[in-house]
Amino acid sequence: MVNWPRQLPELLYPFPMNSGNSSAQIEALFNASLTAAQQPSWPDKVAVASAVAELRSFPPLVFAGECDNLKERVALAAAGAAFWLQGGDCAETFAGATADSIRNRIKTILQMAAVLQYGASLPVIKVGRMAGQFAKPRSNDTETRDGVTLPAYRGDAVNDLEFNEKSRTHDPNRMVKVYNTSAATLNLVRAFTQGGFADIRHVHEWNKGFIKDSKIGPRYEAMAKEIGRALAFTKSAGVDPDGFKTVDFYSSHEALIMEYEKALTRIDSRTGDAYDVSAHFIWIGERTRQLDGAHMDFAAKVKNPIGVKIGPKTTPDEALAIIKKLNPDNEPGRLTFITRMGAGKIREILPTIISAVTKSGAKILWVCDPMHGNTYEAPSGYKTRKFDDVMDEVRGFFEVHKACGTHPGGIHIELTGDDVTECVGGGEEISHEDLATRYETACDPRLNHTQALELAFLVAEMLRDR
Ligand code: PEP
Ligand code: CO
Repeated sequence: MVNWPRQLPELLYPFPMNSGNSSAQIEALFNASLTAAQQPSWPDKVAVASAVAELRSFPPLVFAGECDNLKERVALAAAGAAFWLQGGDCAETFAGATADSIRNRIKTILQMAAVLQYGASLPVIKVGRMAGQFAKPRSNDTETRDGVTLPAYRGDAVNDLEFNEKSRTHDPNRMVKVYNTSAATLNLVRAFTQGGFADIRHVHEWNKGFIKDSKIGPRYEAMAKEIGRALAFTKSAGVDPDGFKTVDFYSSHEALIMEYEKALTRIDSRTGDAYDVSAHFIWIGERTRQLDGAHMDFAAKVKNPIGVKIGPKTTPDEALAIIKKLNPDNEPGRLTFITRMGAGKIREILPTIISAVTKSGAKILWVCDPMHGNTYEAPSGYKTRKFDDVMDEVRGFFEVHKACGTHPGGIHIELTGDDVTECVGGGEEISHEDLATRYETACDPRLNHTQALELAFLVAEMLRDR
């Protein structure tokens, strides 16, 4: 069993109130001449400056000490001593930031973590695609419906999903709303996970309120019973550790909109280092990871643990160049590769990348995103994914790591705690025709609560047999 590094409380609050850091000092860190892909085209530059000034004046959403704490855990996962579980919406929305929806997502992640931890006897690092995942890169700048062409939806951080000119106009004031919604979400996340709700002894309660007739429900209940018995046994032996009572839950999102991420960058008073305090973990997406682009420059200069999405076109040399740029000193826990190859390609493409990285001596956490390489359009026009393809990519990920002698360190999943019908298959056998029943995502299709639990049970088996 791993002893988690614990932070002294004073180390969690190293930033002076309202940053105190001069914006010129922060701006000077980054190379302003570089191109940033996938940026909004804000029509009103004065409004942008005013939103940025407001963001700069706000307190940090997360603290440098918490980011460092997460980095230590990433290092453990990279060494095979922990497992990374990252999940949440493809695109969070302002309307979706309700207590019920946030609680259902947290419960789903806690349930998945319990399944993984119990099944594989490994500590699980819980990370939400939450409290900041409001901006989306898009393949097309515009969308056309019935002959009308408007700007594409780029996430609530930029415009609104509704298809009319006013809603689709890019509005920089939305960045301020992203901060406020993220703060409210994080507040609830911290209350749920520190205030007793996440106590492992509530493993039964987390299943309450979810549909009972699914095939996976009884399996979860049986596991929860076994955990309850093990806990009662431990308690009878006089052992009742605090570690059972609260969990650490980290926030993450794609660092996409440069104005937002830079405005929320602060200098840590302990070390003089810069941290992006909009989330504990940020990742750079497949569409914005140009080596000479602004996103990679930004990621190189903040000290947070960083992820980079690695798609099927990535070459081994490119992977090595990313490592050189983002983690030249090979700091443990600093860099995570989130592979998203597609079920049909992972077994062919991943081995050569892993072998080059291993040969270089770089310490990397390998995480599988089995969602983004497996999206297709159903005959009805809905964007969807097959549960079997998702599982096949995860299986491929485990097979490749086994063959390479490396650690399959975690999974990155688009999910919701709600009972939606967005991905086909799974135990409930959602069909193409069923998609219309409850298709609610603002962007990519998510696993629903049952499908997410089902995936956790299957991954726990793979983890046990790895
Ligand atoms: C995402 O994670 O929602 C996303 C857009 O992923 P990618 O950059 O891998 O396409
Ligand atoms: Co997505």
